[in-house]
Amino acid sequence: MNPRVDVLHGVNLDMLGRRDPAHYGTLTLTELEVKVKRFADDLGIDVAFFQTNHEGEFCESLHRATEKTDALLLNPGAWTHYSYAIRDALEVAALPAVEVHLSAVDDREEWRRVSVIRDLCVGSVQGQGVDGYREALIMLKEALDT
Ligand code: DQA
Repeated sequence: MNPRVDVLHGVNLDMLGRRDPAHYGTLTLTELEVKVKRFADDLGIDVAFFQTNHEGEFCESLHRATEKTDALLLNPGAWTHYSYAIRDALEVAALPAVEVHLSAVDDREEWRRVSVIRDLCVGSVQGQGVDGYREALIMLKEALDT
């Protein structure tokens, strides 16, 4: 049986395609998810997608994750930089997680260099656009295999 990875997108990621292409590329979220699904198929991983603009809903999806999935691929958007609620919920989920950012957050504004979830994750990928999701899936597969 394939391992399952839940891909959770946070605030404003549903606006991909309308956000600054220099940072986020031109794909819509739906187009990005099609690509991520292909990466996952190639790697023998089942993926499920979720996006919300509501922090509490993002936390609740983490609360439910333990029963439903094996690992988490998270792009919480701006919440990455300050949401201790999401950090606490991720701790509750207690699953292998990788943090992904389309843009190179460490090379942007000072406030984007902070991630309140990074130390709870087995890996972190940034600045590689949609290809970063493939790298994150590989990291999760390795974490699940060991
Ligand atoms: C982002 C980076 C965040 O700083 C930003 O707030 C986002 C998207 C990224 O994918 O590069 O919404 O997580």
